[in-house]
Amino acid sequence: MSDASDPFPSPTPEDDGAFGPEFLQDLTRLFLWRRDVRHFLPDPIDETALETLFDLACLAPSVGNSQPWRFVRVEDPERRAQIRANFQRSNEQAAQSYDAARRADYLKLKLQGLDQAPVHLAVFCEKDPPQGHGLGRLTMPETLYYSAVTAIHSLWLAARARNIGMGWVSILEPETLNPLLDVPDDWHFIAYLCLGYPARMDARPELERLGWQNRDALCRQVLRR
Ligand SMILES: Cc1cc2nc3c(=O)[nH]c(=O)nc-3n(C[C@H](O)[C@H](O)[C@H](O)COP(=O)(O)O)c2cc1C
Repeated sequence: MSDASDPFPSPTPEDDGAFGPEFLQDLTRLFLWRRDVRHFLPDPIDETALETLFDLACLAPSVGNSQPWRFVRVEDPERRAQIRANFQRSNEQAAQSYDAARRADYLKLKLQGLDQAPVHLAVFCEKDPPQGHGLGRLTMPETLYYSAVTAIHSLWLAARARNIGMGWVSILEPETLNPLLDVPDDWHFIAYLCLGYPARMDARPELERLGWQNRDALCRQVLRR
């Protein structure tokens, strides 16, 4: 897929939807090199590339095809400053939740790139979108939230494939965000995302490199019954 004016050209008659081994290798590298990025260069992201990221994110699966994700580009410096202050409050509260030894380690971590990232995105989920006509969510309404997260993950990978980094900031008090960003009360806050060109590329998660948390062995994640 190219960044040309039509981001979704129709498949050609020869396209059978299969992927070759070279693509699979590259895709595996994309999974390995996707990182949560907190260190950004100040360079702006090209608008066309950004629009392509939104287009691709909106191809994500969603319950009943409800497409409940709503992206808010936070550009206003005053609003950004309030998000920063919100993070600081939440981060101090989080630090206090640890005992002294772990708190010292926690306070060494950089858990956001709010000051450097050229693009800030708040992601919300519309709680009762007309799209999908309720299909699939009667007994599990939270599947709407899961759907919004699938779009975020698509955005994350699509960004990384273009050497654009993304960092997810969840250390925030969500209650204040709807009025701050002037969005409807029935939108549920899902994520605050920082995007920009990474100051460094890493094959290992930062929390792993800094000794906070390694990945678990696969055998702990997949059970057989
Ligand atoms: C739901 C969610 C919330 C997250 N919140 C934060 C956060 O507030 N600050 C942060 O530094 N990283 C946050 N992360 C990123 C994780 O720390 C990161 O994904 C994890 O350490 C693995 O690193 P990797 O994404 O580079 O593989 C979040 C990730 C997810 C999926």
